[in-house]
Amino acid sequence: MWGGGREEWKHFEALVNYLAGTAMDSQRMLIDSFGRVVTDLRISVTSRCNFSCIYCHNEGLGHPPLLDDQEDGEMGPDEIGRYVRLARELGIGSVKLTGGEPLVRRDLEEIVDRCVQHVSDVSLTTNGSALAGRADALRLAGLKRVNVSLDSLDPHAFKDIRRGSLQPVLAGVRAALEAGLKPVKLNLVVMKKTMQYIPAMIDYVGGTKGLKLQLIQFMPELVHHEEWSTDMDELKEWLEKRADSVITREMHHRRIYHLNGAEVEVVDPVRNPEFCANCHRIRLTHDARLKGCLNRNGNLVSLRGLDDYGIRNAFRRVTAERVPYYGVFVRDSEGETILGRRPSSGMGERYLRP
Ligand code: 5AD
Ligand code: SF4
Repeated sequence: MWGGGREEWKHFEALVNYLAGTAMDSQRMLIDSFGRVVTDLRISVTSRCNFSCIYCHNEGLGHPPLLDDQEDGEMGPDEIGRYVRLARELGIGSVKLTGGEPLVRRDLEEIVDRCVQHVSDVSLTTNGSALAGRADALRLAGLKRVNVSLDSLDPHAFKDIRRGSLQPVLAGVRAALEAGLKPVKLNLVVMKKTMQYIPAMIDYVGGTKGLKLQLIQFMPELVHHEEWSTDMDELKEWLEKRADSVITREMHHRRIYHLNGAEVEVVDPVRNPEFCANCHRIRLTHDARLKGCLNRNGNLVSLRGLDDYGIRNAFRRVTAERVPYYGVFVRDSEGETILGRRPSSGMGERYLRP
């Protein structure tokens, strides 16, 4: 179903321009060999984090982030700004800053400032623990929206899952709302341990203006613990029964349910070809390597040491190598037919039967 939103229009317009060969010619757009237009760039500004969530895939790098990690080749604000400028030239229309935990960087406001000079739609994914003191400054720098990870409103459960404290995160959510960083999307990773907290979270979101809820399927590929997974179809049926309305977003064909005054979006990528077929995102690691797919690490391309021409080519090369992970790289849920090579770092192996 056509959700009718800004994002559907963005992809549609990009495709029309491409087909008409007008405003943006094909040389200047990022379109992979499966016809997927790349419009979103997700930038990890650090792989450090002050939390240690049991489910963390560290933006697809797999190893858990540590606070005392060295800065480890992190990009500076000017460097990030330069990549965003070139990405914009190639049709990227939105940027999401992520980590690790982006707020461990004292210069995050500066990074936001550099990004918004080229792309106005800049948002942030954070664990929220340090957001309270910085929400205003981030807003002032030009940040539009935030996602805050919040898996339970029970302080004990929160600590058990996140290895951090709930209170500062709730203060961060309030500060973000007050600063006008709307909507504030709360990310809840759906797994056996967290299912029981979903109804209370829906009530919380329904009762607070400006909040939305994202229910994100636990992705076991890089973390293992397949046994933590739960049945997302059952969850979607449960939501559907209670929903006043259901729509489908263009991005990843995510379902959005409206119930009890809350907007609840389900993000369920695992073994979901429809999700990958509608993916418009590429990633930049904290140390400036382009990554075409969250689940694949074998083909990262470093932007360091390249001139503008080389950077544009790197974007094109990584885009050209993009393959829908589920549906093509891993052919089906039974994993019987595989077109891609076996991933070099071993992720996804549990779905692959050579
Ligand atoms: N599965 C699903 N989502 C995850 N996140 C981190 N690790 C996983 C995983 N294994 C999500 C969390 C967090 C964001 C940064 O990434 O929702 O909010
Ligand atoms: Fe990973 Fe985010 Fe949790 Fe930090 S807060 S451990 S980056 S999921």
